[in-house]
Amino acid sequence: MPSLNQELRTRLCERKIIISCGTGGVGKTTVSAAIAIALASEGNRTGLITIDPAKRLATSLGLKDLSHRPQSINNTVEEATKSIQGFEWRGSLDAMMFDPKHTLDRFVRMTAGEEVLEELAANRLYQVISDSFSGAHDYLAMEMLYDLHSSNNYDVIVLDTPPARHVLDFLDAPKKIGAFLDDRIFQWFLVDPKNNGFFEKLRARSTKTALSALEKLTGKSVMADFTQLAPYLYKLKHDFMDRQDKIMQLLTSEKAGTLFVTSPGALGQHDFESFCTDAKHRGLDTIGLLINRSLQHLCDTPWENMSGKAAQEPDLSNAWQYYQAVDMLARQERHRIASLQIASLAIIPELAKDVHSIETLLMIGDCLGYYQE
Ligand SMILES: Nc1ncnc2c1ncn2[C@@H]1O[C@H](COP(=O)(O)OP(=O)(O)OP(=O)(O)O)[C@@H](O)[C@H]1O
Ligand SMILES: [Mg+2]
Repeated sequence: MPSLNQELRTRLCERKIIISCGTGGVGKTTVSAAIAIALASEGNRTGLITIDPAKRLATSLGLKDLSHRPQSINNTVEEATKSIQGFEWRGSLDAMMFDPKHTLDRFVRMTAGEEVLEELAANRLYQVISDSFSGAHDYLAMEMLYDLHSSNNYDVIVLDTPPARHVLDFLDAPKKIGAFLDDRIFQWFLVDPKNNGFFEKLRARSTKTALSALEKLTGKSVMADFTQLAPYLYKLKHDFMDRQDKIMQLLTSEKAGTLFVTSPGALGQHDFESFCTDAKHRGLDTIGLLINRSLQHLCDTPWENMSGKAAQEPDLSNAWQYYQAVDMLARQERHRIASLQIASLAIIPELAKDVHSIETLLMIGDCLGYYQE
């Protein structure tokens, strides 16, 4: 079936960072893994940051546990493909499943040092803050992307994104964290220890007074935790702001691009347009549109070919209706796709089974035009 607009593949090749975006369940994680394998097979040193993959997919990729460390999956792919004639694995692929907790620790270690991290790890308030920070998966994924990119160990990195109500919500994460650290409660405690200004002193004194009043209400140890944490939070906030600027510079540079993944059912008339507008507004480039789980190849499929699928229906008397329903959906979809005026587009068919194995990921790559020379 015609599945690839060559433009999309060319544009994918030009990027060092590919961010797959889309609403929940459309296949972002699957497509990210398939593209990463395809790019690695072409000779690229590839990194894949994947978020909460299905357990079976993680197992097929040979990813054993959540880890902030890149895990090489070269052996797994080579093992799975050794019987495929003509398949060459020219590059390398490191993948990691996202572990938000570790990323915050790593950030603290990097900015403040190992000793500080050890000290903070024992602080109950750090644990609380680290938990709410960990909730900001989205920001930490970008943080990890930035780290990998800066390591210069990769030619290309594919970033999967978490499900979000609005597709580009993950980009707002730094602002949310900034606002969290800017919160008035924190502001009060974020006293720069090096600043000797009059107002700082006054604030420090008032803070002490406020603390002793609060201690009466909350108990001594909690406030002690807070005072221990305050100078570190101050530094963390400044380092965070600095990093945030660098990350945004990278994401909005020509090295990076977003790929909008959708399913035919989820594809509204103007969805892709509004995605592109939103992305542009945020300074991000859009690589193209990928329609996953398409049924259009089933249009005009002769009944005898369809009846095998239809026969899987428990009530065989429904088989003919099933056939007609699929045929109708496939026609509607073909009509809708034909009316799209998009230069950079790929269509991946609904595969007969869930995409959990290397073999099925290769099939998706094949639909994208890889492995064909
Ligand atoms: N082309 C396809 N054919 C058949 N099944 C598919 C296809 N693409 C994805 N799937 C299946 O759809 C399910 C959802 O895919 P996936 O987890 O990649 O979506 P997602 O967009 O990452 O979801 P989430 O938003 O929850 O992270 C998985 O079970 C996957 O195996
Ligand atoms: Mg996913």
